[in-house]
Amino acid sequence: MTAPASPRTYRVKSFGCQMNVYDGERMAELLDRQGIAPAADGEDADLVVLNTCHIRERATEKVFSDIGRLKRADGTSPMIAVAGCVAQAEGQEIMRRAPSVNLVVGPQVYHRLPELIDAASKGERAIDTDMPAETKFAALPARRKVGPAAFLTVQEGCDKFCTYCVVPYTRGAEISRPFADLVGEAQRLVDAGAKEITLLGQNVNAWRDSGARDADRRGLEKLIEALALIPGLPRIRYTTSHPNDMTDGLIAAHRDIPQLMPFLHLPVQAGSDRVLKAMNRSHSVASYLAVLDKIRAVRPDIALSGDFIVGFPGESDAEFEETVRLVEQVGYAQCFSFKYSPRPGTPAAAMDGQVSAALMDERLQRLQAAISAGQLVFNERSVGRTCTVLVERKGKYPGQWLGKTPWLQSAHFTGDVRIGDLVEVRLNEALGNSLAAQLV
Ligand code: 5AD
Ligand code: SF4
Repeated sequence: MTAPASPRTYRVKSFGCQMNVYDGERMAELLDRQGIAPAADGEDADLVVLNTCHIRERATEKVFSDIGRLKRADGTSPMIAVAGCVAQAEGQEIMRRAPSVNLVVGPQVYHRLPELIDAASKGERAIDTDMPAETKFAALPARRKVGPAAFLTVQEGCDKFCTYCVVPYTRGAEISRPFADLVGEAQRLVDAGAKEITLLGQNVNAWRDSGARDADRRGLEKLIEALALIPGLPRIRYTTSHPNDMTDGLIAAHRDIPQLMPFLHLPVQAGSDRVLKAMNRSHSVASYLAVLDKIRAVRPDIALSGDFIVGFPGESDAEFEETVRLVEQVGYAQCFSFKYSPRPGTPAAAMDGQVSAALMDERLQRLQAAISAGQLVFNERSVGRTCTVLVERKGKYPGQWLGKTPWLQSAHFTGDVRIGDLVEVRLNEALGNSLAAQLV
């Protein structure tokens, strides 16, 4: 392998969850500070960062094929950096099997990218998958230009150890970023153009003010209250939450803080208590429904969202049907559903009763039909409503704009607006995944 020269341009490709999107933006800012410029659309970049996801399916194989595709017609490759959760879990293997990869960097140490790139420019192959005690956030440059809907990672990692999940291994133990840092970063996001901030964490509602004295042990609602005081920030969201960390204080915030949008992503994963126990979810269907009742009591219009896994080892037909019934009972505004994927090193991967691919396909189709039907009902109930929409981007058709309602539905409309405007619209027609709207 020849030593790639110091890169002048870069491209960051993020896969998977919103936290990866956030990390990808922060890596880009770091590279900008380094004097490396983003490659123009369609232009070949000198450095490509693959910011990978390990949560499901053949994650590692996908990374290898992405690496293969970076090879140019003349046989050369750009400098390739593999970041994200596959880097953390399979870094050594990637280095061994893919000689064109120049560096591997884990999600907790990407602030060290500049040094790793310097080493790679000298022809070294560098791998850093540390999980250091000090946090990367202090070493990252300040936020600059962001879109109207911005992400802010407030919490990382997970101590819950659901038996199917790699997150506790790839992202490590739960840590909460300090209150003051987060208020500061939120203010800079607003200064840089954000109108909506989504607070991110694998267990975002487990966020705690690590610096607080015993007298103030409030959780995420305290941070949301503080962000609600920032002028020019009309919208706040948070994701992903765990049912067991849904405290009364946070629920009350949905009643008391107008900027907190009426949307809650609260995964339950399955509708059978036996399966939930095998998943080590540490909640039951009933305790999950009790949380939903509480939140609906304070915010009747709340839009609910969830994650579901079909085909967890040992899931019977009857247990799967319980999941379908739960979806029908709750009336979600939207949901994500996945076929169970055995993740190397997780307890569920070694469990008996692995479900066949064909049966998982069948179950997923059935569940997705139930989810789509529920989503359409939810959207249809919104028709006739007037609400604000945050204009996020241009639509497919000339003059068309796309934005999100408070309930996180996509709305499209035409008119004289700009990206970042908050506009009043009337919701006219419900389509499967979006709503046709009209400026009022
Ligand atoms: N197989 C399938 N889905 C998974 N998820 C997490 N791990 C797995 C797995 N091994 C899903 C869960 C989680 C979402 C982010 O991804 O539903 O909430
Ligand atoms: Fe994974 Fe469970 Fe933690 Fe969510 S709560 S990140 S599913 S281990």
